[in-house]
Amino acid sequence: MILIIDFGSQFNQLIARRVRECRVYCQIEPPSITSDAIRRLQPEGIILSGGPASIYEKNSPRVDPGIFDLGRPILGICYGMQFMVDTLGGTVKHARKREYGFANLQIKDPQGLFQGLNAQTTCWMSHGDSITSLPPGFQVTGTTDNTPIAAMADPRRNLYGLQFHPEVEHTPKGRLILRNFVFDICGCRRSWTMRSFAEQAVEDIRHTVGEKKVILGLSGGVDSSVAALLLHRAVGPQLTCIFVDNGLLRKGEAATLRQTFKQNLHINTRFVNAASQFLRALKGVSDPERKRKIIGKIFMDVFESEARKIKNAEFLAQGTLYPDIIESVSAFGGPTAVIKSHHNVGGLPRKMRLKLVEPLKLLFKDEVRRLGKAIGLPADMVWRQPFPGPGLAIRVIGEITPQRLEILRNVDELLLEEIKRAGYYRKLWQSFAVLLPLKSVGVMGDQRTYEHIVALRAVTSKDAMTADWARLPHRFLGHVSNRIINEVKGVNRVVYDISSKPPSTIEWE
Ligand code: XMP
Repeated sequence: MILIIDFGSQFNQLIARRVRECRVYCQIEPPSITSDAIRRLQPEGIILSGGPASIYEKNSPRVDPGIFDLGRPILGICYGMQFMVDTLGGTVKHARKREYGFANLQIKDPQGLFQGLNAQTTCWMSHGDSITSLPPGFQVTGTTDNTPIAAMADPRRNLYGLQFHPEVEHTPKGRLILRNFVFDICGCRRSWTMRSFAEQAVEDIRHTVGEKKVILGLSGGVDSSVAALLLHRAVGPQLTCIFVDNGLLRKGEAATLRQTFKQNLHINTRFVNAASQFLRALKGVSDPERKRKIIGKIFMDVFESEARKIKNAEFLAQGTLYPDIIESVSAFGGPTAVIKSHHNVGGLPRKMRLKLVEPLKLLFKDEVRRLGKAIGLPADMVWRQPFPGPGLAIRVIGEITPQRLEILRNVDELLLEEIKRAGYYRKLWQSFAVLLPLKSVGVMGDQRTYEHIVALRAVTSKDAMTADWARLPHRFLGHVSNRIINEVKGVNRVVYDISSKPPSTIEWE
């Protein structure tokens, strides 16, 4: 296990990703963790992250200096390196020149961290402070034009520092540097597999839940599906899933889910058809935020009244992921509890006095997919593109009526069928159709038409924070447009959205 101390860098999750890619478990902790607590965690090595503070400022974040006496290898990155230098007797000063962006790293010592690298390599810098003198025992292992001490090492004590960021893509050999640290210096083995994770998680869930009952809100997305299957493995019939059909789903969605969860996986699932309740409340509403609020409120009501029917339930299981948790951990004092607002059932546990079970809270999205595969979730479910909680309500721009929903469903179904047939589905982060609140003139046969316009949206992304419009081939788009206009009654124009995020967003509303 590798422990990462979070000094607040925007790249912390990336450090964790890189370590996990090595199939080595890692955990991010705030600097307030004591060296005794660290000793109990028994990490093979420690990474001190970067961060926005200056070490010589008052109240800059610091970790218990006792970590240097634990006898474990430590790698300090950027601010983490400066903290190491300051604590062990070197000096850090405000640099005359801020260094930001690419730099050419000259490697002085091709051992340890830099094993297998050429004498020169590109690295990515982002710092306003520099190290001006090293603590006793250290030597310079790398320099750049502007930063004479860009890398340092004390191999006797197994302490290392990098002024640049090995975790970002802009440092092409960064992965190798981190691998050298994790495997050669810390001696970790590649033992973090999803199979071993699943075994441990099942054991933990059994231990926590005992003989009690658990409720889980199933959305049909990857996270809640994997969580459901894991819970089912652990406590079988003690688990009841609740699926709320809000009438805003894609075509066939509810039926597919029923088939998968009830018939194929034999998971206790209650399907609640609340479509009319949602549609009634949304009647005449066009404002996207109002749509979201109405949907969130009704969802809570329906979910709660269904959950109350399950007598003596003590736990609520959720598919919360690691990024949701890390985002809420601040460098200056630990968790601040900013869980993403679209965690729909957020208010329920307190209201119903349920205890939370979050078996995926240490995993990243791609790990959840690997876990799903390892525990036998069907491939269709594992590779599902994300789908927003408010569903088609935010893709029918303007007022939501059964007729407009039906048009969008038919277009969407056809688009997905073609996307899957052409092999694009897994390559795209999301692909969907949007119904616009406009009509346009067309001509079909000898007839003038005045019908709906749909927009097609396909994006690539890693995490939905940024996204690029997918360069789907013209021939493909032409074919899909033709089919839509010919086969979906009520549509006479198709446009393709070529905006990226930012400044646009993925959804139109
Ligand atoms: P945007 O449109 O903000 O979307 O670029 C980013 C990601 O979040 C999804 N999304 C939502 N998910 N409730 C959800 O559960 C929502 O209200 C919501 N709005 C957007 C969107 O599909 C994309 O994956």
